[in-house]
Amino acid sequence: MNNLAKELREGTTKSHSMAENVTFVKSFLSGVIDKKAYRKLVANLYFVYSAIEEEMYNNRSNPMINHIFFTELNRKESLEKDLEFYYGPTWKEEIEPSPATNVYIGRIHTIGKNQPELLIAHAYTRYLGDLSGGQILKKIAQNAMNLQGEAGIAFYNFELIEDEQVFKNRYREALNSIPVSEESIKKIVAEANIAFTLNMKIFEELNSSFLKIMTMLSLNAIKNLRDKILRN
Ligand code: HEM
Repeated sequence: MNNLAKELREGTTKSHSMAENVTFVKSFLSGVIDKKAYRKLVANLYFVYSAIEEEMYNNRSNPMINHIFFTELNRKESLEKDLEFYYGPTWKEEIEPSPATNVYIGRIHTIGKNQPELLIAHAYTRYLGDLSGGQILKKIAQNAMNLQGEAGIAFYNFELIEDEQVFKNRYREALNSIPVSEESIKKIVAEANIAFTLNMKIFEELNSSFLKIMTMLSLNAIKNLRDKILRN
């Protein structure tokens, strides 16, 4: 037994609170969601999870990865459903990874090939986060974007997992059963902090396009007002 679950949790506490404070994340939490920005996030997540799940699969027999190879966590298919909802049947031709997403997936593939044990950090950061915040975020998304029924929120539904809290504990036990040295634990925790940063970069990008739109809208409104005043 090792202490990896605790080390990961404690070693990423600071990154976690930084991620919570990114403007896009804060505005999402307060229920302000721009549908265009949200669907871009879904597209970026699709590329991220495709990369994570491809590399986890390629390394499924690795003696460290096999402990946390849980296909019931896979999000790629649920994201495909959501993309079909937000973009329509031609979603595949309409989406592309953002620059920050390309950096993120590049890192996952490099690790998958050269240091597969670091995939543990990427799986932990995304899946344990999803299992933790999923139900709250799902309700926020439904209310803010006026979504009906189950449309557009497949990502938050782990259909193969009965109880998220129970599964989270199982996942932590699995992390603690991985045969890792103290040295590797340090590297995995450092990589988890990188994973948090890579996620933040994606949010920041969305935030700046959201701000750009808001600025353009305000400038247009000012211009219209000025035209109106000049006409009178
Ligand atoms: C405002 C946004 C967020 C809120 C409110 C939030 C909230 C939470 C909460 C309440 C937990 C509880 C864990 C527990 O005690 O069982 C948690 C865990 C977690 N969150 Fe977040 N989260 C946010 C954003 C993020 C982001 C952006 C990531 C990474 C991409 C993330 C990754 C994680 C991880 C990995 C855990 C598991 C920690 C552990 O127990 O080891 N969270 N989060």
